[in-house]
Amino acid sequence: MRTPIIAGNWKMNLTRAQAVALAGGVAEACANIDGVEVVVGPTFVCLDAVIQALEGTRIGVAAQNMHHAASGAFTGEVSAQMLKHLGCRYVLLGHSERRQYFGETDEGVHRKVHAALAQGLAPIVCTGESLAEREADETARKVELQVRAALTGVPADHARTIILAYEPLWAIGTGKTATPEQAQEVHAQIRALLTEMYGEDTAEAMRIQYGGSVKPKNIAELIAQPDIDGALVGGASLKADSFHAIVAASA
Ligand code: PGA
Repeated sequence: MRTPIIAGNWKMNLTRAQAVALAGGVAEACANIDGVEVVVGPTFVCLDAVIQALEGTRIGVAAQNMHHAASGAFTGEVSAQMLKHLGCRYVLLGHSERRQYFGETDEGVHRKVHAALAQGLAPIVCTGESLAEREADETARKVELQVRAALTGVPADHARTIILAYEPLWAIGTGKTATPEQAQEVHAQIRALLTEMYGEDTAEAMRIQYGGSVKPKNIAELIAQPDIDGALVGGASLKADSFHAIVAASA
């Protein structure tokens, strides 16, 4: 069985002191919860402090982005190797905000996935359709293109460490969640695609998170779906009590 994974994407929020305080609050609130993998994703400048604050807990830390090269003349960028040495275990790749505002492409995500895996980081690869694409009935096609592009050339033993996140763009930060049925439909399509690419054993082992306005009040019905293996949480991850409620409901 797949262990559910709940990840908080803190986005561009929180000073260092606030991030350390939130990490401490999450660690305390989630201390007695078993059977769920818990991850928080601070900004680059808070990673070190949050990793230290969470030492000795089971909570993992994710970076929100990275560059595909190991080092070099890429002003303003951070490599997988740097994240790994800092103590990160996960990295968000291809979040829709990066695709929308920072020119992230499927090809770029593909290169980052390979670079992250080479360093032993677990990529959380984000996919999802816009409202216009959903209305044009292009959801399945769009998500398939994104997943195929990200995973091209990734062998099955590495694919198992990848976490996919299905996040319909129209549900991110809008308060509009996909219904459990809408989410499950796409998750099942992704699982079928993974089965085609890697066979059933690997596809059944891979986790697929749902993201987009996940809150304490809607997590139970989402996580109850057979192919929803966790959540990528934005807004509700910025308070220890709401994040804890989401984690607790997934255990
Ligand atoms: P949200 O963000 O929970 O605030 O909708 C989700 C995400 O962008 O990962």
